[in-house]
Amino acid sequence: MPNKYYLTTPLYYVNSKPHIGHAYTQIASDVLARYGRLSGKEVLFLTGTDEHGQKVDKAAKEAGETPQAFTDRISGTFRELWTLLDIRYDDFIRTTEERHKLAVAAVWKKLHDSGDVYRDKYSGWYCTPDETFWTEAQVLREGGAVLCPDCRRVIEHLEEENFFFKLSKYQVWLTQTIRDGKSFRILPETRRNEVLGFLDNNTLQDLCISRPKSRLSWGIVSPLSDQHVTYVWFDALINYISAVGYGADEKKLNKWWPADVHLIGKDILRHHAVIWPVLLHALGLEPPKLVFAHGWWVQGGEKMSKSRGNVTDPVEIVQKYGVDAFRYFLLREAPFGSDGTFSEEALIARYNADLANGLGNLLSRTLTMCEKYCAGAIPPGQLVKNVGEPKGQFTNDMDKLPGIVMAHMQNLSFSHVLENIWGVVTCMNEYIEQKAPWKLAKEGKQAEVDVVIRTLCEHLKVIAQAIAPFMPTKAQEIWSQLGLSGKPMDMPFKDNMWGFFENGAQIAKGTSLFPRIELPKNE
Ligand code: MSP
Repeated sequence: MPNKYYLTTPLYYVNSKPHIGHAYTQIASDVLARYGRLSGKEVLFLTGTDEHGQKVDKAAKEAGETPQAFTDRISGTFRELWTLLDIRYDDFIRTTEERHKLAVAAVWKKLHDSGDVYRDKYSGWYCTPDETFWTEAQVLREGGAVLCPDCRRVIEHLEEENFFFKLSKYQVWLTQTIRDGKSFRILPETRRNEVLGFLDNNTLQDLCISRPKSRLSWGIVSPLSDQHVTYVWFDALINYISAVGYGADEKKLNKWWPADVHLIGKDILRHHAVIWPVLLHALGLEPPKLVFAHGWWVQGGEKMSKSRGNVTDPVEIVQKYGVDAFRYFLLREAPFGSDGTFSEEALIARYNADLANGLGNLLSRTLTMCEKYCAGAIPPGQLVKNVGEPKGQFTNDMDKLPGIVMAHMQNLSFSHVLENIWGVVTCMNEYIEQKAPWKLAKEGKQAEVDVVIRTLCEHLKVIAQAIAPFMPTKAQEIWSQLGLSGKPMDMPFKDNMWGFFENGAQIAKGTSLFPRIELPKNE
């Protein structure tokens, strides 16, 4: 189905409540899904929660709850946040659901039948908080202690029987597939190079995909042994196919697989760019078309995370500044592949400059002038399609804006999309200054005033559509204040969409779109 668009977020661990880092992946995915729908695609946007494993088990114990009750509760807080953030997902999968457990069992069986899973004794290092095995060569030694090379916590030596997946067998296939870049792409380019560098310089070890039940019972029991549960990462990755019917609904699987985009943070790149494509290949399935690894939100120079204690609660930010301003800030402030520093000062500065003074002011001036000089009705008149002077590499040609926006969306360059839209917003504010409709009105040049007002309204209509995936509520407010019926997202969004307003249609000016945030003055 060429017109389908299947995109996924990572499944969030339910060991603690969501923070800005989680909200980021989610908002970016929502914007992508909305653009997909705007361009006429049939979209499946999947998200969910990762509920098994040691971390969750431990968090449940600390909370004095059973793992099931705990995961039900925390999974719910993720869903509540997604509602608050206006995230329109199509499916929410929990790894504790029956449909997922069935798919995991089907994967175990298939890999066992094809000889890609074997049972063996393991003797080596294990990081309990990270649930990861390490070889002698990988561990760090400091003083007398042996440390996890990833999280630098003390690790233990284990000896136990487990099941292994033959990851090593597929190293050559994987390296070639990534180099070739046709069926499986990794973006940004730096991340692709990082994975290729890792594959060129390391020999893949087979992956231990079980944990003895005696050590960890909170997991999906292996169909090969009731004494073992599935390793949490192996379990979690399978969600991307269990949600589309793996092992249960062949037709659905064929419709949606391969996924078009897996959006992830850079910390989970290897799981998605090494283990996952190999696992799919071993199952006889195609790799996802694209894995995009975004950067981190940092605070105090470190990745925002619960364990570092430097998290910001998205709910608080939304209560202070509104959902759409928060969505805008996250995707405008840092290019999607890079890290960004979160601060309320930076958010307020962007809000005032781009939203209050930029777009909000533009809408309010346009509609005030429409009321004052055109009796609140869309005037007749020729359209001007290039307003103001182009800013740097940004266009002032409204005919071309939808095409430019869509091209940047293809590369998930959210900040470039917004820069381009704001390039036009700046040109429009400049156009008002240049034309000074208040002077034209004084001089009795009504036909010229009409051209300016009509031009601004037509431009604002395209702007509302362009920003709708980022700021759905504010886009709708612009739409309604322009007197348009329906929704900006329901209209086709493509180049040369002009002549939209009927002469004489009434606008419906409302309250300020983005009231300026006044900061307390320092004494
Ligand atoms: N459960 C695994 C994913 C399994 S996917 C089959 C997991 N969960 S997580 O809750 O720890 O992280 C989920 C996502 O949030 C990851 O993409 C991670 O990169 C992202 N973020 C968590 N903290 C972040 C920041 N401080 N900044 C940006 N994103 C970060 O990993």
